[in-house]
Amino acid sequence: MLEITDLVTEFDSVKALNGITFQAKPGLITTVIGANGAGKSTLLRTISGLERPTTGSIKWFDQELTHKSVEAIVRSGIAQVPEGHAVISQLSVAENIELGGLFRRRIARGDLAIATREVYELFPILYERRNEPAGSLSGGERQMLAISRALVSRPKLLLLDEPSLGLAPLISAQIINIVNQLCRSTGLTVLLVEQNANTALAVADHGILLSLGKVVADLPAKIMIADSSLRAAYLGY
Ligand SMILES: Nc1ncnc2c1ncn2[C@@H]1O[C@H](COP(=O)(O)OP(=O)(O)O)[C@@H](O)[C@H]1O
Ligand SMILES: [Mg+2]
Repeated sequence: MLEITDLVTEFDSVKALNGITFQAKPGLITTVIGANGAGKSTLLRTISGLERPTTGSIKWFDQELTHKSVEAIVRSGIAQVPEGHAVISQLSVAENIELGGLFRRRIARGDLAIATREVYELFPILYERRNEPAGSLSGGERQMLAISRALVSRPKLLLLDEPSLGLAPLISAQIINIVNQLCRSTGLTVLLVEQNANTALAVADHGILLSLGKVVADLPAKIMIADSSLRAAYLGY
């Protein structure tokens, strides 16, 4: 269980997160939705240790993550796929995946090879293109690569920041479906940040709606998706 309590993260005394409290249950998909600037990326970056909270706590089962280093957080089984399909263009697909193994929790010989084979099974197109530079991939393939790089660290909790951003609807649906399958088949816990609320709520178990750094709704996804007044008030459609 991921437990976020009274989390505050500030930039120059502006509270990007202004007292966030919620829990994400293991083996389920929790989606964090909200308009641009709501604090979604800051939330993920604070969980993965890239931003430091002013106050509050982040717990993953019995581990207190709040003041741990990024490396220690990765080793405790948490991996983030950053916003913007970030891959290293000059390196090959295979080399990008290998990079994800750098912070592995326990580097047994052959272990990375097994994890790499698993991600190629999940995304066969990446296997086909393994020797090509990542810069030659389409946007969707680049997102698959960014996810693969996170998955080779064998995370228990996957943090995904707007995986569908800038992708054609069919491609983003395909990526979200693969994440969904992965969660259902392996028990992976997923925290999925999306601006596209409908796409995310369609696969999620639970929804957290953020506005101006606060949680304004914390509901089962099925209930949130049916609530048109929430959407109108906070998402503008
Ligand atoms: N590195 C930063 N420095 C200053 N302000 C930031 C920084 N990152 C985010 N912010 C501010 O924090 C707020 C939340 O941003 P962000 O978490 O990126 O929102 P979202 O991902 O929901 O669009 C915004 O007002 C944004 O301008
Ligand atoms: Mg963002």
